[in-house]
Amino acid sequence: MSSRIPSREVARQLDVEILTLFPEVFDSFLRTSLLGKAIENGIVRVHRTSPRDYAQGRHRQVDDAPYGGGPGMILRPEPVAAAIEAAEGEPGRCYRLLLSPSGRLFDQALARELAGRGRLLLICGRYEGIDQRVADLFADETVSIGDYVLAGGEMAAAVVIEAVARLLPGVLGCGESADDESFSAGRLEYPQWTRPATFRGLAVPEVLLSGNHAQVAQWRRSESLRRTEARRPDLLLRHPLSDDEKALRDGGSAKRRRK
Ligand code: 6GU
Repeated sequence: MSSRIPSREVARQLDVEILTLFPEVFDSFLRTSLLGKAIENGIVRVHRTSPRDYAQGRHRQVDDAPYGGGPGMILRPEPVAAAIEAAEGEPGRCYRLLLSPSGRLFDQALARELAGRGRLLLICGRYEGIDQRVADLFADETVSIGDYVLAGGEMAAAVVIEAVARLLPGVLGCGESADDESFSAGRLEYPQWTRPATFRGLAVPEVLLSGNHAQVAQWRRSESLRRTEARRPDLLLRHPLSDDEKALRDGGSAKRRRK
């Protein structure tokens, strides 16, 4: 595995090579919204390569039965290896991720680190699995996006691309911030409202209409904390309460519960 780089370093541009048997899956994703703009503006470049195009034989078969038996088909290593070499081509080595449910969990810290890499290669698995030698010989890391099983790595690759691209300078509008501090601080985002002030019987919390910025800020911190305690106690274990937050919580215990 390559050495870690400081998480604050962000490249000015991002080059992504996607290895996938289903390149068309990414068509609308790459054309739309934030990412479509970033590609149009030359901040992000995405290329797709299919191992199918590098498979041997008349049938261009990319998979085979698992050694040792068992259900399903396994991606063979040769077409993947040939596709990696073709995709990297002239510019040379990418930071290579294998997307698999058996990988390390993807999170905001990894997104920040990848934003500093400049050049990524995302290998999407399919079928029941991928020959272990792809991980052993070619991948810098194996990454999963959560504890559930997808049919392939394509949706995971899309998740990684979007999470990384939005951290590059110029991808978000000037009014928006990459605002991943909520995750680095280990707290969930506070709830938000916009007009109308009342909708189907539900009113916006009074404090947000008060114009008292200090009070709004404190209320939001306390809501973040309440949410995190209710939904993600694991985050609290890793990022314990500060003295400030203890005071906030003790002062705000009479609040009503919200979903
Ligand atoms: Cl990266 N791939 C697949 N197939 N399933 C997943 C995943 C990846 N991450 C979570 N589930």
